[in-house]
Amino acid sequence: MKEKFKTLKDVFDLYTEKNLFHMMGQGHFEGLESPIGVGKEANTFSALRKGKRVLVKIYRLQTCDFNRMFDNLRTDPRFDGLKKKQRKVVFAWAKREASNLAKLGKVGLHVPKLIAHRDNIVVMEFIGDEGPAPQVITQKPKHPKAFLEKLIKQMKAMHEAGLVHGDLSPFNLLNWDENPYIIDLSQATPFRNPHAEELLERDVRVMATFFTKIGVKITPGELKAKV
Ligand SMILES: Nc1ncnc2c1ncn2[C@@H]1O[C@H](COP(=O)(O)OP(=O)(O)O)[C@@H](O)[C@H]1O
Ligand SMILES: [Mg+2]
Repeated sequence: MKEKFKTLKDVFDLYTEKNLFHMMGQGHFEGLESPIGVGKEANTFSALRKGKRVLVKIYRLQTCDFNRMFDNLRTDPRFDGLKKKQRKVVFAWAKREASNLAKLGKVGLHVPKLIAHRDNIVVMEFIGDEGPAPQVITQKPKHPKAFLEKLIKQMKAMHEAGLVHGDLSPFNLLNWDENPYIIDLSQATPFRNPHAEELLERDVRVMATFFTKIGVKITPGELKAKV
């Protein structure tokens, strides 16, 4: 197994490396394949699991804005009493994404299915075929109006399941064969969160602006009324 990490030497801290090995030992995936993205908080990789591709999202324990993460988690009633310890905060952040994926997957939303979670690592269904499905920002929908209708159904179902995304954008929306897949659920939070309404306003504003730009005129107010 060790040689599978050769190319990734020095990329991860020892704790994360140990966790990756542990998850591989449990059969959740068989070594990392290729890097997909490097974001503010996480590195994502494709990996194989029983011959099928999965997505491994590794939240970094060190280079992340953990003050912002802590402030954001604090108003989520599911994380009451969270201590401001860097590692604990990152684990909670990853756990939130895992719980949200599990919850939304159960009600049939088009989000990646949760496969496994351990501390700062989340393994999920790979959206795409050979490569990852493109983000909507790079692959504009062919029929924006139909695509928006599908997205509205997804957003409505997410809200009915009791969650607001909070970071919805054309970067966190994949276009898989002209079907919208919502990703990056580490910020999604219950409506009981005192910031939920503000986050919902934000999500509809960003999406309404994007769809208006690509030719489907809609105001944030109109979109909000539909979702
Ligand atoms: N389940 C998935 N299947 C395929 N690609 C994914 C999946 N989840 C994320 N990606 C890709 O990985 C990158 C980072 O994902 P994201 O969850 O948005 O993390 P962040 O923005 O925090 O870095 C993006 O390029 C996204 O398109
Ligand atoms: Mg993202």
